[in-house]
Amino acid sequence: MHIWMLTWNLPNLLFGLYLHTFILVGSVSLACSDRTPEQLAAITNCSKHERHTRNYDYMEGGDVRIRRLFSGTQWFLTIDDSGIISGTQDPTNCYSILEIRTVSEGGVLAIKGVKSKYYISMNRTGMLRGKKEYNESCNFKEVFLENFYSAYSSAKWTKQNGTEMFIALSQRGKPLRGRKTRKEHISCHFLPRECKEDDKQVD
Ligand SMILES: *[C@@H]1O[C@H](CO)[C@@H](O)[C@H](O)[C@H]1NC(C)=O
Ligand SMILES: *[C@@H]1O[C@H](CO)[C@@H](O)[C@H](O)[C@H]1NC(C)=O
Ligand SMILES: *[C@@H]1O[C@H](CO)[C@@H](O)[C@H](O)[C@H]1NC(C)=O
Ligand SMILES: *[C@@H]1O[C@H](CO)[C@@H](O)[C@H](O)[C@H]1NC(C)=O
Repeated sequence: MHIWMLTWNLPNLLFGLYLHTFILVGSVSLACSDRTPEQLAAITNCSKHERHTRNYDYMEGGDVRIRRLFSGTQWFLTIDDSGIISGTQDPTNCYSILEIRTVSEGGVLAIKGVKSKYYISMNRTGMLRGKKEYNESCNFKEVFLENFYSAYSSAKWTKQNGTEMFIALSQRGKPLRGRKTRKEHISCHFLPRECKEDDKQVD
């Protein structure tokens, strides 16, 4: 009985280990496939600095995506350490890694800078600012446009005539006042770009 178990379990165990290694290696190479070495280095770098500051807030649960938002005006949206929202053309800038979390049904979501930990918020006058504390002003509705672009309008505030105010980056990479935004304009169009598997550990 004892010998029987040994002879049958050992190959099983070895095969299991082999399979595990195979899957691990497979997923790592899959995750890296569409990155340049510079991007990989930078993303790994971003993760390294962040790993120590792992910090869960009360907004847990919901569908979470880690993305960069690349605007129709060719900027990556960033939220810096003082809560300033801006654009960068450096595809490796750590402040452009965003956590996009579904808050409620109907495509309402909150967008947080993974490094700065500020939520994007829009106030009554349509100004964008990063906020440490999440509240309703941090809720945005995602609208899917053509060509994989999305637009994000405040779920809390509208213009005086009731039309939506959008997150927008100008041709110079500066946030536009919500009152000046229109869904049709490329400054409001964003392409959500996937980040590498590693980024998902950065929170
Ligand atoms: C890694 O991070 C350090 C400190 O933030 C920075 O000085 C360095 O340039 C970064 N390296 C890369 C490859 O981005
Ligand atoms: C809206 O936000 C901007 C930028 O943070 C600020 O200067 C302005 O006073 C705010 N307006 C209101 C009504 O909260
Ligand atoms: C959200 O928080 C800001 C300050 O961070 C505050 O001014 C505002 O009144 C709060 N509530 C709403 C609904 O915006
Ligand atoms: C609402 O106001 C904005 C300017 O604040 C204007 O561009 C837009 O055409 C108006 N929309 C409607 C439906 O009146």
